[in-house]
Amino acid sequence: MSRSKISIIGGGFVGSTCAHWLLSRDLGDIVLLDIAEGPVQGRALDLLQSSALSRFNPDIKGTANYQDIQGSDIVIITAGRTRSPGMSRDELQNINTEIIRQVCEQVRERAPEAVVIIVTNPLDVMTYVAWKTLAFPSKRVIGMAGVLDSARFKAFVAMKLKVSIQDIQAFVLGGHGDTMVLLPRLCHVGGIPLTELLSKEDIEALVERTKKGGAEIVSLLKTGSAYYAPALSVVEMAEAVLKDKKRILPCAAFLKGEYDVKDLFMGVLCQLGAGGVEKVMEFSMTEAEKKAFQASVSAVRTQVQKLNI
Ligand code: APR
Repeated sequence: MSRSKISIIGGGFVGSTCAHWLLSRDLGDIVLLDIAEGPVQGRALDLLQSSALSRFNPDIKGTANYQDIQGSDIVIITAGRTRSPGMSRDELQNINTEIIRQVCEQVRERAPEAVVIIVTNPLDVMTYVAWKTLAFPSKRVIGMAGVLDSARFKAFVAMKLKVSIQDIQAFVLGGHGDTMVLLPRLCHVGGIPLTELLSKEDIEALVERTKKGGAEIVSLLKTGSAYYAPALSVVEMAEAVLKDKKRILPCAAFLKGEYDVKDLFMGVLCQLGAGGVEKVMEFSMTEAEKKAFQASVSAVRTQVQKLNI
């Protein structure tokens, strides 16, 4: 059986950490591509040398040449700017829209059969830009946000209850930002509903901390944004695709009427397998959850309408 080929566009913090996690799971051979030549080759070489000390012997290459991504099974896009102090959301959106367009024009030519996972923010909007540029079937274009936001919520729940994070099940819907929709009603701790273990006030505090989870890390890091958990969230999705696992994970997927939403990428529960998003999983929401989800949809749609593509 041939090994899978995984290309990562953007070899900065998130991209190179993705490569690290992918290597540690032996998921395939890796191409790490960046517009800036030098550091990306250095990181790839460092990672390659680290495999002398692991059980695996992957091929990993750092490059600035798109020819190297030819025939990739999966393309992970982390290229872009992170938000710097004083930069508005709209400014970031304009800058990263251009970057995603340039990147996706290359991906369309060189890796036409790939499943593409977008990480660049603003996530839901950049996934839309990628899909428009790639012109791939929508099931092969997926945004990473829900896995990360759910992981953050699980971490806060585990810290509060002093239990193993592994025994917590939870998922997050909606856009990746302040309007994300957490569903404590469907969070379980070893099978027990969270609502039976914590007060409403305590749960609300965890929900609020999760919504600001990215910002909390940004303010502590001083420069840049989170990368360990974001990168492993991507790898969890990539593994589901590469191994055709049919996992149920919250991802930004293109909606064609599911959840009463059309023509927009939104965070929903998806079945991920070899084909990408093989199914959008629907379930009944309470009136309050529906309202919060619709507010999140409106926020993302407003941003998408500002695009000039
Ligand atoms: N083509 C390829 N790479 C590019 C391009 C481009 N057109 N433009 C920028 N890059 C590269 C940069 O050179 C840089 O190495 O993208 C990389 C981004 O890396 P970092 O600045 O370290 O940012 P990172 O923390 O990895 O975040 C990347 O993921 O979580 C999101 O909000 C985050 O949008 C951001 C993205």
